[in-house]
Amino acid sequence: MPAEKPLLRVLSGERVNPPPIWIMRQAGRYLPEYRSVRRQAGDFLSLCFSPELAAEVTIQPVRRFGFDAAILFADILLLPYALGSSLSFEEGSGPRLSRISNRRDVDALRGAEAVHQTLAPVSATLRLVKPRLPGGTALIGFAGSPWTVATYMIAGRGIPGQAPALRFMREQRVAFDQLITLLTRATIEYLSDQINAGAEVVKLFDSWAGSLGGADFEDYVCKPNARIVSELNHRHPGTPIIAFPRQAGAQLGTFEAVAGADCIALDPSVRPAEANAGLGARVCVQGNLDPELLIGDGAGLAEAATSILDGFAGRPHIFNLGHGITPEAQIENVERLVRIVRDWTPRTS
Ligand code: CP3
Repeated sequence: MPAEKPLLRVLSGERVNPPPIWIMRQAGRYLPEYRSVRRQAGDFLSLCFSPELAAEVTIQPVRRFGFDAAILFADILLLPYALGSSLSFEEGSGPRLSRISNRRDVDALRGAEAVHQTLAPVSATLRLVKPRLPGGTALIGFAGSPWTVATYMIAGRGIPGQAPALRFMREQRVAFDQLITLLTRATIEYLSDQINAGAEVVKLFDSWAGSLGGADFEDYVCKPNARIVSELNHRHPGTPIIAFPRQAGAQLGTFEAVAGADCIALDPSVRPAEANAGLGARVCVQGNLDPELLIGDGAGLAEAATSILDGFAGRPHIFNLGHGITPEAQIENVERLVRIVRDWTPRTS
């Protein structure tokens, strides 16, 4: 049966005009209706673990903007929490986790099967969202990729550069490999549960992929993503996978070839011409407007969005930002962006 939802059509390799649109972190602090539910929930983790409230904020941006997809409201750090890491979100300073410093810390984590029970509220959220979405809107589940999740577990917080994780990788290779293997297995179980609960697409966020190069990039970015993709393809044939190897730069082609995802999400640093030259002609791309353009008076928004639309006109494309929308973004700019994308038509030359 052919897929009717534009997002699923594109992910099956079809070119759709205009391309479907959703935006990373579309449920977030730039929306007053999100802030209101967030206050009601108390802290961020309680919001993630309250299926009724999480379902509501998942749907809010679809209701307001008519996006082609809803993305599950949760966080990539719920997985380490399920494995036994402590987790809190401090207002203004981001996430804090207990730190993994050695082999003993890795040994003390729970096994991959722990996710089924601890993250059951996430599946409950998906079950609530699915029947409430408009007919053409696809439901996306997600998880962090093993390297990116490991960087947070080792540093105990989010930091640029990833020095602690890089040092751990070099100095404690056995423990590091054990951690990556555990995260890979747990991510497969978690995403499999999400698909069983109604996710029609899943996305892997490898937000810190760009901090690895050479053999490390292949071993800890490409291969873990590839294992997750191939096991999910085996368990759930027909469920497409989007992978986001942020800042992979010149290594994007390698990533595409090894990981085997249906769609590669691009960060704002990638020019369409570069992506088209470095990636296979048939693979779907997602992206990649700079979220900064949604702040302020929106100067340059139309031009930048149009150049992305034109640049990817020759292949399956999902319009999105190149990274998450920020709390400073203007709602009117998001409305303008949706109009720009929906009014766009390919040039006939
Ligand atoms: O996209 C969506 O709307 C779905 C929900 C979603 C969140 N986080 C909600 C969230 C998704 C897909 C994520 C992914 C995520 N979380 C990533 C990968 C993408 C990326 O940004 O690179 C990462 C690295 C995280 C970890 C994380 N969560 C950080 C670093 C922070 C703090 C920074 C910030 O923006 O506050 C979070 C908190 C977080 N996750 C918020 C939201 C809406 C803000 C919390 C709040 O409401 O106060």
